[in-house]
Amino acid sequence: MEKFKRFRRLRKSPLIRDLIRETKLSLDDIIYPLIVVPDKKVKKEISSMPDYYQLSIDMLIEELKEIEQLGLKAVLLFGIPEKKDEMGSDCYSPQGIIQRAVKEIKKNNLNLYVITDICMCEYTISGHCGIIKDGYIDNDETIKLLSKSALTHVQAGADMVAPSDMMDGRVKAIREILDENGFSETPIMSYAMKYASSFYAPFRDAAESTPQFGDRKSHQIDPGNIRQALLEAETDIQEGADIIMVKPAIAYLDVISKVKEKFNVPVAAYNVSGEYAMVKAGSKNGWLNEKAVAMEMLLGIKRAGADLIITYFGKSLAKWLGK
Ligand code: PBG
Repeated sequence: MEKFKRFRRLRKSPLIRDLIRETKLSLDDIIYPLIVVPDKKVKKEISSMPDYYQLSIDMLIEELKEIEQLGLKAVLLFGIPEKKDEMGSDCYSPQGIIQRAVKEIKKNNLNLYVITDICMCEYTISGHCGIIKDGYIDNDETIKLLSKSALTHVQAGADMVAPSDMMDGRVKAIREILDENGFSETPIMSYAMKYASSFYAPFRDAAESTPQFGDRKSHQIDPGNIRQALLEAETDIQEGADIIMVKPAIAYLDVISKVKEKFNVPVAAYNVSGEYAMVKAGSKNGWLNEKAVAMEMLLGIKRAGADLIITYFGKSLAKWLGK
C-alpha cells in the first residue's frame, strides 16, 4: 500500500494532462451574438465592449463570412430599429431590421445556424421588454406581439428563435403560432432562467435598450432564487422549449449545474456582456491574461454543465483554438 495518493503522476506533462482532461472547449458548442443596426457601412465599436461592434446589414454579411471561415457554427442576432415606437413595431414587421438581415444572410448561403433573439426592449421607446400599460408591462398583450415577432423571423428564414423577454406564457404562444403556420420543425431556445442582473449593462449600451424608467425586476428572476429558476425551466419545457438557457453564466454556475442534473434537454449558458467587459478591462490594464482567463471562464461554464455557450469571445476562441 502506498503511503499517500500521488495525484501528481497524472499532472506531470502536457501529454498526460491532455489525455485525462474531462472537459474541453469546442467551437461546435459556441454561439456568437451579433447586433444589427440600420444604414450602410456601419461598424461601430461599443466602448464598454472592446473589439465588439454594431454592424449594418452589409457589414454583417462580411463579418459572417469571416465567422464562417473561422469555423464558428452558430450566431444569435439582435436588432436595433431605425425608429423605436411605443408598440415596438419594428420587432414584428416583416420589413424589420432582423427580418431583413436574416433574408440577406440566407441569400448568401452561409453555412451558419441563424438564431434570432425575441424581445421588445430594443424596439420600444420605453426600453422595456413589452407594452406598457399604467407603468407596468402588460404580459398578455406583449406575448401576442412577441409571437408575431418570432413568426416573422422564421418566415424570413431564421433557423431557431430565442425569446429573452421573460414574460409568462411566451414559449407556449410562440410554439403555437409557429406550429399553426407550418413551422413545427423550428426549435425554440428559451431564456428560461434569466436573472435581473447588473452584468447586462454593457449590452444595454450596445443594443441601446436601457429602460427609460424603472428596471426589469418585475419579470427577470431575483438573483437570490434558484427554486424559481427550476420552476421556470420546467414550465418552459412543458410549453415547448427545446433548449433552455441560464443567463448570466459566471455568477450562476450552481443554476447551470442543477438544471443540467434535473432536466433532459440541452442547456445553454449566456456568458454576458458584463462578464466579457470585466475580462477585457482587466487585460487592458495588464492585470489579467485575456486568453487564459476567458478560456478558463468558458471551460468553467462548460464543466458546470452547459451544452452550449453564447459568448462575445466566440471569434477570439476560434483563433485561440486554432481552427
Ligand atoms: C433582452 C436581452 C438582454 C440581453 C440579451 N437579451 C438585456 C436585458 O435583459 O436587459 C443581455 C445580453 C448581455 O448582457 O450580454 N433583449
